[in-house]
Amino acid sequence: MKTKAHSRHGCPPTDKTGKEIINQKNKQKVHGVSQSEESIKLQSHLGETDASKEQDNNKGFSSKKMDTVKHHKSRSTGDKEPISRKNPKHFTDVHGLPCIERIVTSVEDTPEPISTDIIGTIPNWIHGNFLRNGPGKFEIGNHRFNHWFDGMALLHQFKISDGQVTYKSRFLSSDSYQSNKDQNRIVMSEFGTVTMPDPCKNIFQRFLSRFELPKPTDNANVSFVTYKGDFYVSTETNIMHKVDPETLEATQKVDWSKFIAVNGATAHPHTEPDGTAYNMGNSYSTKGAYYNIIRVPPTKEAEEETLEGTTVLCSIPAEDKTKPSYYHSFAMSENYVVFIEQPIKMDLLKIVTGKLTRKSISNCFSWNPKLNTVLHLIHKHTGKVSPIQYLAKPISTFHQINAYEEHGFLIIDLCASDDGQAIANYNIQNLRKSGEALDEVYNTLCRVFPRRFVLPLRIEPGTPYNQNLIDLPNCTATAVRTGKNKVFCTHEDLHGEDLHMYGGLEFPQINYGKYNMHPYRYFYGCGFRHLVGDTLLKMDLQGKEMKVWEDPGLYPSEPVFVPCPNATEEDDGVILSVVITPIKDKSTFLLVLDAKTFEELGRAVVPVNIPYGFHGTFSSTA
Ligand SMILES: [Fe+2]
Repeated sequence: MKTKAHSRHGCPPTDKTGKEIINQKNKQKVHGVSQSEESIKLQSHLGETDASKEQDNNKGFSSKKMDTVKHHKSRSTGDKEPISRKNPKHFTDVHGLPCIERIVTSVEDTPEPISTDIIGTIPNWIHGNFLRNGPGKFEIGNHRFNHWFDGMALLHQFKISDGQVTYKSRFLSSDSYQSNKDQNRIVMSEFGTVTMPDPCKNIFQRFLSRFELPKPTDNANVSFVTYKGDFYVSTETNIMHKVDPETLEATQKVDWSKFIAVNGATAHPHTEPDGTAYNMGNSYSTKGAYYNIIRVPPTKEAEEETLEGTTVLCSIPAEDKTKPSYYHSFAMSENYVVFIEQPIKMDLLKIVTGKLTRKSISNCFSWNPKLNTVLHLIHKHTGKVSPIQYLAKPISTFHQINAYEEHGFLIIDLCASDDGQAIANYNIQNLRKSGEALDEVYNTLCRVFPRRFVLPLRIEPGTPYNQNLIDLPNCTATAVRTGKNKVFCTHEDLHGEDLHMYGGLEFPQINYGKYNMHPYRYFYGCGFRHLVGDTLLKMDLQGKEMKVWEDPGLYPSEPVFVPCPNATEEDDGVILSVVITPIKDKSTFLLVLDAKTFEELGRAVVPVNIPYGFHGTFSSTA
């Protein structure tokens, strides 16, 4: 394994600050980057294989070689033509990606804890459960799920104490899982999979079943979240499950719509230091679709409570009543919720007729690059929506990094790309491809990079038009008033050219407990030289330098930061990540990195296979 330090390069030199002087000095470290073409050489990350099975697995590339990666410039705002699925745009030109089918393959759960082999040192101060969520079963009987997001939720627990680690996992006993298991076929429609009519019904019943509305799944396979101090597993429908973090057993099914008028909520709520949680969810009525800001109280008044006391802070009507934007998360600063209305649209009419037309929800998503992105500010304490619309070119964003207010501006950092069609391409068949077919899938996905938008909070009658309103030092983001209540924003890249070598960054994480909603310096994420993360990255906003952890053939999950006791600096702590590989059976390990140096402290090797997962959290029991 290697940890590399990279410095920002390819940045426009200026002569104003010491930061740029450092950049100039570090330009010597550029690895053959041609800035004009954004074309780079990327050393093959194909690991050595030692069995014929592995050779089969990696069919499609003849030998270890230098892969060529070309990152084209993103499309301009004025691009008018929606992309045809029959002739997709190619964003990169990568060849020789290793097949990762084995890390998107069904596994059995491990409900009884098993010990792990420790290599190196797991710090003694870490006490708690590292909880992770993700899909674990992709076939039921003879039926197969279509989309990566559809796999049955498998909950993982790495229990860390006194330098030792045990592991266990358990399939979420959701209604979806139980029904599928009982009938040995896919009974509940998922995001990318439409159920077939029950073969036991007569032909008339089967015909009528096509007119039923799709039932929301309770296969909560996206994240672990906390409300009022309790752990829940969440997807994006109205159903969550409360889960005991010790046993991983689901203890209660909780329906958002029993408490407030919403049809779902994201799997990425934000929590304030006192425990108050905010989330967003859609509601649908005869008047159209609304985006709702949700607030959940910080504490329970009775032990059996779940979402009692939850309120809708405000409702924002969708611009297109029948085609609201899809959002996976949102940002939160001290005083505001930031809702990003991106031009990924959900066609509600297609969704409600999906059973009849055999279209899954993922088939009802579309990317409309003719539309701008709109950032809405909602005041958390009054519920008032800012009359100012902050516009930006069409972007697609799944995960925000952080947001805070400073000197009259709201700074929002997020992971974004210039194309919004990736979600449809993450079907299981694509993930399991090999050779040129796999390369083709990767190359038609737009890379995701960390970006900063800066929103001026005070737009008054005398605020000038047609000039950049941002006067923060060293900030290259712009915000220009273009109308009475309109400000057009352009972003600042939060990275140097070197991040292109690692395929961009997703699954961002920060020292959330102390720095969410506050000025901060570091964020962490996965590099994406493949369809899943294949490196861990530490980004330093001062100088935009980065550190990298990588090991050929290994695929690390989202890095979760855990602060050490009595931490004084932002990066005093460790990074936890679950690392898996398609090239060696049962070679999963929990990786522990020193968050400051990004050097490996230790790993806990667990003899199981785990599919690549989505999100996790650390629950301290110290
Ligand atoms: Fe997510």
